[in-house]
Amino acid sequence: MSADTLCQTPFGALRLQRYPTRRDEPLQAWCGADLLLLEELHRLGAGGEQLLVVNDEHGALAIPPAAGQLWTDSALAALALAHNLEANGRPAIRVTWSTDAPAATPAVVALRVPKQLPFLEYQLARLADHIAVGSTVLAAGMDKHLSPRVASLLEHYIGPTQRHRGQRKARLFSACRDGRPAASPPGEAAYRCEAAGGELRAQANVFSRDRLDGGSRLLLEVLPRLSPAATVIDLACGNGVLGLAALRQGLATELVFADESAMAIASARGNVARLVPDLAGDCRFHHGDGLLAYTGAAAGLILCNPPFHLNHAVDEYAGRRLAAQCAAHLAPGGVLCLVANRHLDYTPVLRRSFRHISKLAGDRRFTVWRARRD
Ligand SMILES: C[S@@+](CC[C@H](N)C(=O)[O-])C[C@H]1O[C@@H](n2cnc3c(N)ncnc32)[C@H](O)[C@@H]1O
Repeated sequence: MSADTLCQTPFGALRLQRYPTRRDEPLQAWCGADLLLLEELHRLGAGGEQLLVVNDEHGALAIPPAAGQLWTDSALAALALAHNLEANGRPAIRVTWSTDAPAATPAVVALRVPKQLPFLEYQLARLADHIAVGSTVLAAGMDKHLSPRVASLLEHYIGPTQRHRGQRKARLFSACRDGRPAASPPGEAAYRCEAAGGELRAQANVFSRDRLDGGSRLLLEVLPRLSPAATVIDLACGNGVLGLAALRQGLATELVFADESAMAIASARGNVARLVPDLAGDCRFHHGDGLLAYTGAAAGLILCNPPFHLNHAVDEYAGRRLAAQCAAHLAPGGVLCLVANRHLDYTPVLRRSFRHISKLAGDRRFTVWRARRD
């Protein structure tokens, strides 16, 4: 059964859909943490230009109080916001990527606590530097995802913090910016990968920042068996490990790094500049929902270690969508090389878009698939 799309908030009701939209969507586009934040914003009379919303997923937090700005790492969240604004006939809300500082100085910040704690620390440190003494930072998350460290991190970076009552399986915190100088956030994480040419660095919200993912390790092993191509795409690139290895092995004339995370794209860009400076001119970077808005050359080869989580939910739908997009952006005869957890059967997914499918490698946890376009 599809989830309800009518979201009742203290600012009024609105229709909200998740992005990407799918038929019979079982999940709502908002959660208890969004409602707690909205109730507190309403009680404070906060909204409009004075309000900065952080990490809103589908617009539930930014649209009702007409926030001045959304600060996010996620191109999917920006698309969700745009679709729901249009569907509700509301004017656009400015989006600033997490890699940049928020554009204006807000009096109130409403923040959904992100999954990665280093990312929360990064955001709090930047906010502390940005907001005025006396400003309020409201933060909330769902109980099952909240780290016990949230209150102490707010206290450390922002100032005196209150832990409010729990409600709707969520928890609200409020912190008031005090006059201490802003603390520095933790630095980038890194690991060495010989195939990629050295140390791969990654910003705070990047997948597998401090160790090579097991799926990518298996995919790296099969790279020498793949044919070179004029354009190769590292789709869902994270820190860029797969694309860098392909470049160093002479598999690509041009390499496109694509990801929905602004920090992933910035990290891949930084790793290219440090590890293969002579080849940086052959690299392009695409921040968006997979290849939906990609307008570059069709690829001869796409390498992909797709997500099997969407935020907190295990969701193979994300990988399925990316596989279908690949078929649309491969040149005739082009190959998709995709690694997936062994328990997710990609055969039916790949069969929808490709006629020629084979398994290239497998281990206890992962399978590498090869799918070729006619
Ligand atoms: C399993 S990680 C792989 C990262 C990297 N290739 C590696 O092996 O370390 C999946 C990546 O997919 C990205 N992602 C999730 N949904 C996406 C989408 N719709 N479009 C583009 N990238 C997406 C995530 O930001 C994440 O970096």
